[in-house]
Amino acid sequence: MRLVFLGAPGVGKGTQAEMVSAKYSIPKISTGDLLRAAVAQQTLLGKEAKQFMNRGDLVPDNVVIGLVQEKIGTADCAKGFILDGFPRTVAQADTLGTLLAEKELSLDRVVHFVIPREEVINRLSGRRSCSTCPAVYHVEFVPPKQAGLCDECEGELVQRSDDQKETVESRLTVYEEQTSPLIDYYREKNILAELNGSGIVDDVQERLLALLSAS
Ligand code: AP5
Ligand code: MG
Repeated sequence: MRLVFLGAPGVGKGTQAEMVSAKYSIPKISTGDLLRAAVAQQTLLGKEAKQFMNRGDLVPDNVVIGLVQEKIGTADCAKGFILDGFPRTVAQADTLGTLLAEKELSLDRVVHFVIPREEVINRLSGRRSCSTCPAVYHVEFVPPKQAGLCDECEGELVQRSDDQKETVESRLTVYEEQTSPLIDYYREKNILAELNGSGIVDDVQERLLALLSAS
């Protein structure tokens, strides 16, 4: 199954992608995670990406397209994949379509996560991410067993630098201007499915799995 999870910052794409990845045994490819890893490792790409990410802007298309192209060509993705946070511009979506068509493949579903704006702000302000593994928590809604420590690896939980209030505002504006046109883009291709992303994580997961099994 080849899926795209589309939606504003903080709607729960990463949380649900992690669970669907385990359920269907297909990799989650998160451009945000790949970019943060490059920033942490201080690679050339990471140094270039950091300035855009800290402002809440999109990293240039050619950089993220290169990252995704590398991943979807690997054997891991033979059974499918979940793209979390990619594509984010029409140019990225066009290139993804071309890359898949070259392999005689296509996307099965683009899931558009929808939640009210106030919920986005609450989710992002309380998010805590593990500093050593991909686990993500929320101080109120998805708390770790021990405050400040990851359940999986006991790594320190930290707040993402782009979850500061001003940066969140910019990310939401960038989403509206540059990414939301993809809703109609994929609706016109008849592969868009709307998902109500409100409510507790398990309820969202149940709705998502029902939607995917009906695809
Ligand atoms: P990225 O990492 O993709 O960030 P994002 O799209 O802004 O989305 P988030 O990761 O913030 O939210 P999410 O939807 O994954 O929510 P989560 O599951 O964590 O991108 C970061 C930056 O990288 C971009 O700004 C850009 O600079 C760059 N970038 C990345 N991809 C790019 C691309 N393709 N092109 C160009 N630039 C790119 O959940 C949020 C919180 O809510 C967590 O605390 C979680 O525990 C909690 N939560 C989740 N579900 C629920 C629920 N049902 N109820 C209550 N709480 C919940
Ligand atoms: Mg995410």
